[in-house]
Amino acid sequence: MEEKRFYISTPIYYPSAKAHIGHALTTVLSDAMVRYKKMRGFETFFLTGMDEHGQKVARAAKEAGKTPQAHVDEMAEMWSGLWKSLLIENDDFIRTTQQRHIDAVQEIFRRIYDKGDIYLSEYEGWYCTPCETFFTERQLAEGKLCPDCGRPVELVKEEAYFFKMSKYQDPLLEYMERRPDFIQPPSRRNEMINFVKSGLEDLSISRTTFDWGIPVPVNSKHVIYVWFDALSNYLTALGWGTAEDRNYQKFWPCDIHLVGKDIVRFHTVIWPAMLLSADIPLPKQVFGHGWVLLDSGKMSKSKGNVVDPVVLIDKYGPEAIRYFLLREIPSGADGYYAEISLAQRINTDLANDFGNLVSRSVAMAEKYFGGKAPAPGSEEEPDRELRELASEVVREAAGFMDKMDFSGALAAIFRLIGRANKYIDETMPWQLAKDPGKQARLGTVLYYLLEVVRESALLLSPATPLVPAKVWAQIGVDPERNKSWDDLKWGGVQPGAPVRKGENLFPRIELSSLEA
Ligand code: MSP
Repeated sequence: MEEKRFYISTPIYYPSAKAHIGHALTTVLSDAMVRYKKMRGFETFFLTGMDEHGQKVARAAKEAGKTPQAHVDEMAEMWSGLWKSLLIENDDFIRTTQQRHIDAVQEIFRRIYDKGDIYLSEYEGWYCTPCETFFTERQLAEGKLCPDCGRPVELVKEEAYFFKMSKYQDPLLEYMERRPDFIQPPSRRNEMINFVKSGLEDLSISRTTFDWGIPVPVNSKHVIYVWFDALSNYLTALGWGTAEDRNYQKFWPCDIHLVGKDIVRFHTVIWPAMLLSADIPLPKQVFGHGWVLLDSGKMSKSKGNVVDPVVLIDKYGPEAIRYFLLREIPSGADGYYAEISLAQRINTDLANDFGNLVSRSVAMAEKYFGGKAPAPGSEEEPDRELRELASEVVREAAGFMDKMDFSGALAAIFRLIGRANKYIDETMPWQLAKDPGKQARLGTVLYYLLEVVRESALLLSPATPLVPAKVWAQIGVDPERNKSWDDLKWGGVQPGAPVRKGENLFPRIELSSLEA
């Protein structure tokens, strides 16, 4: 029998980077995916954390007049607080300054060293500290700038340990070609295959000019290169290499490393090469999502256009932010953020389409049936159409969520919600209510509406996890019997269950207060 286990990771975040809405995309997507997998009966493990070593962090701490440790402690609190307020339910929060991580990274280094894949030499080349990346002169952008972020690079010349990455060029290519799912979406896969084909060089994996890092186990003058350290988190958090490795046994290899497109290369080349060398199975998939862009381009501290998710959560609530990111940023591609589009999504989708469907359906059932869910009678054509659409949408949404395409899934779910609103206009329950002979028909119509309300709330729950409980309280369904994907079978509303209108789920936003 297929083991229903699912391990997903986000990248671990740099503590010095100010959190912005783009960072939230990675975490919200992972969280939605985990919630979906739980609904499908999977035992899940969801990892996020902080990437706390390296020159960039050491410099940021210095600028803040703090010790690196004090600086990262403070930042870790800010970041984990942000995730809580976005309703992120991670199972662990790994910090690379934790002893469990340090010990295991040294163990990975030792393994690769013992294999003969690490040698001492001298590194001479360019280094981009904001990206923590080594570049050869040939790779630089014009004007000696970082080809990734466009900022100035520094010339570095120091003794360094090298990892024989070139040795893994062919095995890596073979894996990439044999496993089409390994790198997703396909455009990123082609890019990485070409990158590997163009030739891999050995990688410098230690530094000597600063000490904010994990000491190289065989030579304490060196600290381990921050990406070698950081990538290992996906294993170290599972207790790999220790007596307490239950989670490693259970969840490795990772199902999905979800990362932004800028760091796909690290995850599909350096990381698997390290694992191949250490004789550890490779992750099943690396999924590179796109960027959240602004009209003014990429968000950056230097441009001063960083959108702070904390401000938005305070103003609009976590569910609206989650919904927006999942709906608006197409799977694997770039998308745009603007406050006006967030507000429009809230008004159109959440307040108008979904919110109104819930409040109208519940209000009518409460009014016409004395606060009790009616029983359905015989099914007529529009009822059948609605019921069939519901089961079609459940299937379709699953297909999209399986591919981590929440934008597609949410569009499908809103097709059902839109159809149900039209069904109200077509069946006109308020007219039926005037005719005592139409009581049975009215019961059927309202039952069908309550049922679509129930299914939509459940379908939306990976995106808007607080919605179900609020809806269950209004339509009197048992929360315990309304949480798994199997509960999406038609007929979960119990006739006679108490129905009572609650507060508006998503209040409308006054658009005139926002700039276009
Ligand atoms: N510390 C490294 C990751 C190490 S993983 C072993 C790092 N950290 S980061 O804080 O700079 O970025 C964390 C994640 O946020 C990355 O997946 C990155 O792609 C993502 N994003 C940063 N800006 C983004 C947008 N504007 N839009 C979408 N995702 C963005 O890289």
